[in-house]
Amino acid sequence: MEYGKIDWNDVWKELMTTQQRLDKTGDKNTHWNKKENAERFWKRSQTNSERTDSTLSEISLTPESRVLDIGSGPGRLSIPIAKKVSHVTAVEPAAGMMDVLKENMKAQGINNIHCVSKRWEDLDVKADLDAPYDVVIASFSLGMPDIREAIQKMEQASSKYIYLYWFAGITPWEEHSISLWPSLYGTNYVPGPKCDVLYNVLYNMGIFPDVHVFSMDYTNYFSSVDEAMDFYRDRYVIETQTQASILRDHLKSILVQENGQLVEKGTSTRVRISWEKK
Ligand SMILES: C[S@@+](CC[C@H](N)C(=O)[O-])C[C@H]1O[C@@H](n2cnc3c(N)ncnc32)[C@H](O)[C@@H]1O
Repeated sequence: MEYGKIDWNDVWKELMTTQQRLDKTGDKNTHWNKKENAERFWKRSQTNSERTDSTLSEISLTPESRVLDIGSGPGRLSIPIAKKVSHVTAVEPAAGMMDVLKENMKAQGINNIHCVSKRWEDLDVKADLDAPYDVVIASFSLGMPDIREAIQKMEQASSKYIYLYWFAGITPWEEHSISLWPSLYGTNYVPGPKCDVLYNVLYNMGIFPDVHVFSMDYTNYFSSVDEAMDFYRDRYVIETQTQASILRDHLKSILVQENGQLVEKGTSTRVRISWEKK
């Protein structure tokens, strides 16, 4: 076995681009471009806020800190972090997410977040940011095909700490895709790259990070199967009657009744991968 010859960045690239190709919305940002999906994400994060509290307690923040939040979404981390530090720059390419972030900033009277509407891979650290930042965070936002280049840029933007949050093992939503793909489209679903690949890319860059594993419950509330259909019809790009009935049967099998609502539940294993810049 020629272990030393594996290019883990190529492994990441292949898995990420295959997954993004299989993402039926075509453009990976299409889902988060829609404001209603961004609002749903925000609401869900406010209901399940324990994980956000733990994240805030484990990141090294002081009142003087300048923080870069890459793929900030609607501000699950940026908003509470901004209340604790001097400055946050939030990089977020998806229009729906950015709209909700700006609304949240306004509603909470926050004026120390600078917003940059770009994908990380399209951004120039010198031209687009006011680097360096004491803390650079990319939380479940590593949809970057060239992860080595993305990490090199994070190192360029950071003066001290880098925190990456990602997945270990197959996620509940990937399990759904694995079971749905053959009947919906006649092909197999290929899950995206996980923390094993990420760790190996970092290792080959001479970065030996701390790795902390935790689990995160995932709940999605719907008032009816029709509402769940509307949400997922879009994500799976349902075009035919046959596909619609496959999806409806699948949703009926996974949604559980709870206090008059239908709930999709799952638990995913996640990781925090962090290091201090040398
Ligand atoms: C699941 S959300 C996570 C949001 C937030 N970081 C959190 O932890 O709550 C993923 C976010 O990453 C963003 N994202 C995905 N790929 C990205 C990229 N290449 N560059 C910057 N942001 C990206 C998406 O637009 C989306 O808002």
